[in-house]
This record gives sequence, C-alpha cells and structure tokens, in this order.
Amino acid sequence: MPTDTNYGSDPVIAAKPLLDCLQGTASPDAPPPIWLMRQAGRYLPEYRALRAESKGFVDFCFSPDMAAEATLQPIRRFGMDGAILFADILLLPHALGREVRFVEGKGPVFEPMPTPQTLTIRDGWQDVVAPVAETVRRVRAALPAETTLIGFAGAPWTVATYLIEGGGSRDHMRSRQWAYSDPAAFQAMIDVLVETTVEYLAAQIEAGADAYQLFDSWAGALSADGIERWSLAPCVAIATELRARYPDVPCIMFPRMTGPMLTRFATNGAFAGVGIDGTIAPQWAAAALQPHAVVQGNLDPAVLIAGGQAMHEAVREVADNLGGRGRHIFNLGHGITPETPPDHVAELVALVRGGA
Ligand code: CP3
Repeated sequence: MPTDTNYGSDPVIAAKPLLDCLQGTASPDAPPPIWLMRQAGRYLPEYRALRAESKGFVDFCFSPDMAAEATLQPIRRFGMDGAILFADILLLPHALGREVRFVEGKGPVFEPMPTPQTLTIRDGWQDVVAPVAETVRRVRAALPAETTLIGFAGAPWTVATYLIEGGGSRDHMRSRQWAYSDPAAFQAMIDVLVETTVEYLAAQIEAGADAYQLFDSWAGALSADGIERWSLAPCVAIATELRARYPDVPCIMFPRMTGPMLTRFATNGAFAGVGIDGTIAPQWAAAALQPHAVVQGNLDPAVLIAGGQAMHEAVREVADNLGGRGRHIFNLGHGITPETPPDHVAELVALVRGGA
C-alpha cells in the first residue's frame, strides 16, 4: 500500500507514475517513469509478424484490433509506464484528403501540394480517423491500471513539411520558403492543421488517452523566429484549447533540435512536459527547463543499440542530472530504430528502475 498518496488498490484510481509526474504529484524519491518514443514498432519481432498480416501501413493503423495489439506489445514485454497509441502523424492529413502512401525503403510519400491553400477541412474527415479513437478505447480496456495511455499528433509544422515536400526532406527548403514568401497562405494552412489536430486529439482523449504528445520532429529546421511562429505558436494554440476542455490531460511537447529555444516551450505554461533531443546536455535541461516543466528524454537511440557499458554510463548521466525531483520522464532523444535489440530495451528499463 503506497504511503505517500491516497491511492488504494482500486484499479479505477490506481496511481499512474507517468501521469502523476506530468501532474506534479510524483514522489522525488521514485525512479523516473519510462517509455520510449516509437517503442511499438519495427524492432519487435512480434510487431513485424503482425504487420506482415496487414494490407499496408495505413490499413494497419486504421484496424483497431491490430493497432491496439501493437500498442500493447511493448507493455507486455517491458512493462513501460506509458503506452503510446499505435498510429501515425500522417493519418490526419490523409483524412483531410492528402493521401499518404508508405513506400518500402523510402518512407511516406505525398503528391506535392501546388499551394498552401490546397489543404482544407473537408466533410467526413473525422469519420476517416474514427478507428484511431476505437484503438484508444480497446487499449484503455486492456491496459494495466498503472500504465498511462499517451495519445499523440504531429505538430502542424512537421505535418506541413511532409505535405509540402511530398515526403521526407533533407533541408525542408520548400516549406521554409513558403512560410516566408506567403506567410498569410502558410498561416491558413497551419490554422487548418491546428483546428483539426485539436479535434483529432479531443477524440483520443474522449476515448481514454490520459495525456498526449505533440511531435515537432522537424522544428529544428526553422530559424529562431520561425520556431516562434510556426512551431511554438500553433502548438500553444492546440494545447491551450485542449487544456480548456480537459484540464487534467497534460501535454508533452517535443520540439526536436530547437536548442536553447526549448526555454520558450518550457516557460510557456501550455505544456506540462517538454521532450529534449540528444543534443541537449541533461545538466543544461535541469537548470534551464526543469524549474518550469517536466523534462522528458534523452538517451541517444544509438546508445541503446550499443548497449553494455556505454549504455550504463549514458543512463547514469541522464538520471543523475535530471532525477531526484519527480520531474523527469525517462525516454530517448528520438525514436527507437529498427536495429535495436529488444534485450537492450529490457536492460534499459531495469537500469532506470534501479534493478541492473
Ligand atoms: O511506438 C510508436 O511511437 C508507434 C506509433 C508511431 C508511429 N509513428 C508508427 C510508425 C508514432 C508516435 C509515429 C510518429 C511519427 N511518424 C513521427 C514523429 C516521431 C519521429 O520519429 O520523429 C514521424 C515524423 C512520422 C512519419 C513517419 N511514419 C515516417 C517518416 C515513417 C517512415 C520511417 C519509419 O520510421 O518507418 C513512418 C512509418 C511508421 N510509423 C512506422 C511505424 C511503426 C513503420 C511502418 C512499417 O511498419 O512499415
């Protein structure tokens, strides 16, 4: 029976260490809650087996039985504190009529957009993504009471880059140029993404998500001014609207590769948590960010592949600097990669919890 909270063994009100951390009620002495970005996916043999049965990746994401199973696989194997919904950031634009194809060895591909005005809110888009909420419902029902269910969406800027570039890109030059050469039209596109992302996440929350993360994977392609306008501002708009509707559902913001601009996210007040990538020194994050927000991160995914002594040392570096305040969520600095040995993940979880 926990002594420092009012939670009993009633599963309905059982403590969720990750959610408690985001809500500011975690004990400073407890090990940090842990989950890993992209923890459900290609490095797991059981995922690959399930995925081989599907007609394609989009179809997989829109099949609640398969997507729920993929969400639960890493929980069963490793007992993470957080379960990230199995879906993709590109399902939303897909529902808005910008059809995505996932090409083996190449990643997501879109028909490049001729102008920003091409993205509009079309009737029926919410029906297209309705299976994602159904996945959340099924996961919710199957998840251990202490596991936090994390919904997610792409941040408007990152989603916009895929639509504008027609897929992944090295420098996102076309997107950046559009933002500056026609800011009004670009803003209109961002506004469409803000409005629909709010409703998409609201549906996930209504279905049972405890918290959600906004992935701004390509925020670091922008200038400091661009980060303010196209990463921070739209994400604040999303989180502020959702907080008004669901005051107890915290947001984790992940503005990857934005360096010292992270302080703008941490001090904003819209986000309970801020995710840091591998370029950020944990010591800096402890001083500059942690007084204002819960910090999530930031083991290098390459260290997780390497394992062994390198992993032990890197975990200690992160934990020593960010731990002990009840304001750290252990995670990677970016998503786990397909070549990661699942055994290393198990070892990492044990290490972080003080058992290895
Ligand atoms: O554990 C999880 O996080 C599973 C849910 C999830 C996926 N994608 C499943 C997926 C999440 C949270 C994402 C987020 C996502 N998707 C991001 C932001 C995070 C990041 O890594 O920066 C981005 C940029 C995307 C877009 C995307 N989806 C790309 C570029 C690709 C191809 C490259 C790749 O990672 O495979 C995808 C496909 C994708 N999304 C897969 C998975 C499991 C692989 C698809 C397959 O099984 O064939």
